[in-house]
Amino acid sequence: MNIYSSPMITIFFVVLCQILSPCQAYLHGKVRNLPDGFLLGTATSSYQIEGAWNVDGKSESVYDNLTHSKPCYSADCTNGDVAANSYYLYKRDVEMLRELGVDFYRFSLSWTRILPTSFPDKINKAGVEYYNKLINELLKYNIQPVVTIYHWDLPQKLQNLGGWVNPNIIDWYGDYAKVVFALFGDRVKYWITINEPYQLCSFGYGGTKLAPVFNLTGEADYLCAKNLLLAHARAFHIYNEEFRFIQHGIIFISINAEWFEPDTVNDVEAANDAINFWWGIYAHPIYSKRGDFPNGLKKRIAVISRRQGLLRSRLPELTPSEIKYIRGSSDIFGLNHYSTFFAYRNATTYSYYSRLTGPSYDADAGYMRYQRPEWQIGQSNSTLYVPWGFYKVILRITREYNNVPILITENGYATRTGLIDEDRVIYYRGYISAMLDAIHDGANIVGYCAWSLMDNFEWFNGYTEKYGLYEVDFNDTSRTRTPRKSAYVYKEIIRTRTLDMNYEPVMPKHINVA
Ligand code: BGC
Repeated sequence: MNIYSSPMITIFFVVLCQILSPCQAYLHGKVRNLPDGFLLGTATSSYQIEGAWNVDGKSESVYDNLTHSKPCYSADCTNGDVAANSYYLYKRDVEMLRELGVDFYRFSLSWTRILPTSFPDKINKAGVEYYNKLINELLKYNIQPVVTIYHWDLPQKLQNLGGWVNPNIIDWYGDYAKVVFALFGDRVKYWITINEPYQLCSFGYGGTKLAPVFNLTGEADYLCAKNLLLAHARAFHIYNEEFRFIQHGIIFISINAEWFEPDTVNDVEAANDAINFWWGIYAHPIYSKRGDFPNGLKKRIAVISRRQGLLRSRLPELTPSEIKYIRGSSDIFGLNHYSTFFAYRNATTYSYYSRLTGPSYDADAGYMRYQRPEWQIGQSNSTLYVPWGFYKVILRITREYNNVPILITENGYATRTGLIDEDRVIYYRGYISAMLDAIHDGANIVGYCAWSLMDNFEWFNGYTEKYGLYEVDFNDTSRTRTPRKSAYVYKEIIRTRTLDMNYEPVMPKHINVA
């Protein structure tokens, strides 16, 4: 049963929910069970927490370069030079994971810490040692490492050579992936190739929100998309052919898929285009039966490119052998999800985009979006609370991609300050509940991962937005970590394997390790 449709239908279901499971828990606070064997974890990424940016042989990444050359790239003119200092405090991080009782910890590897020249000619012993210590500490407490090979901190040297718009990145990234499989694959059984292609290619290469602030919309973002898909597939095939039979792990990509709801009945196509331009462009080539980029997206870009006098589409083609190489190159779907938008296309949309003359990703997609003020439930104006969008996105992936198993690799809420984070608690409960509804309605979800274990360097927002279950005191040189209310609530979900909407934790100063 889908409780999340149009407003009229929602009212109907709200009434129906008075009597029917599963949605009554969502409305009334019934205790709901998580499926047997369901995995619960939390996540971070290297540049956002590690610090030690130039220590023990590590070389410069695109974020070191960007934040040093443009000190006010981020909202509060900060950087990740020290961040949460996890390079030195990893034991405390693992202690926090034990306090929570998680099944797994998702973290990422810093390419420049492992391969300071960017290439496998020199493997940095100290960098490898850091990850060995972290992985071994996790395994000592039975916490599975879920390792993201690449979470945006590209070696600056490779950026100087063009980064993700240079097709050689497929070899460079493949070589790096091979090194890390060989170094850590005896103990790591969950590999995520790349985190969030849309953000990397659109914000980093099409725009200026993320490094390397390449700013060539409608061109660089598409080149990045093609190279990234092939690089991801390269890592998948290397693992498949050379490592899987000895290491027995799984490998997949994490895609950020937000939900786009048609604003009116006339906006179904606009919402569909929004989905395709945001995440279908990455998901379709990997997970659909046909492979390749979505047809509608290919057509839109080709038509507009022609109108602009170009002899070929700005979206590079995938050849039949590339389509085959990419198709099926993920064991499961890694889903990052935060919020929902209404999408529309009307006279204003057409006139707005018709004024743009040069190439533009937004004009190619040709839709507009907005969020409702009532979705703001607390401090965050970026992660608005729309749990029904989570339900819808999960079911769309399930239906479109042949019931692919899904691991939720990121979901979370930003606050600005404070330990009593009621808004984050509401958010997590609502989203976990929506996920349980999706499981009830057929989705094959194997686990859930809260973003984030602790406050960290939030890219262009610096330290102004805080996603942590644990607060980090960035004014304190020892970077003290303190559990928020949401940490206690998540711990109880993990301990009981149930979601109890009414559970009120007693908050001592420290969570004891069970
Ligand atoms: C990224 C994280 C980021 C989070 C919150 C995701 O897009 O993978 O690195 O911190 O969203 O903005």
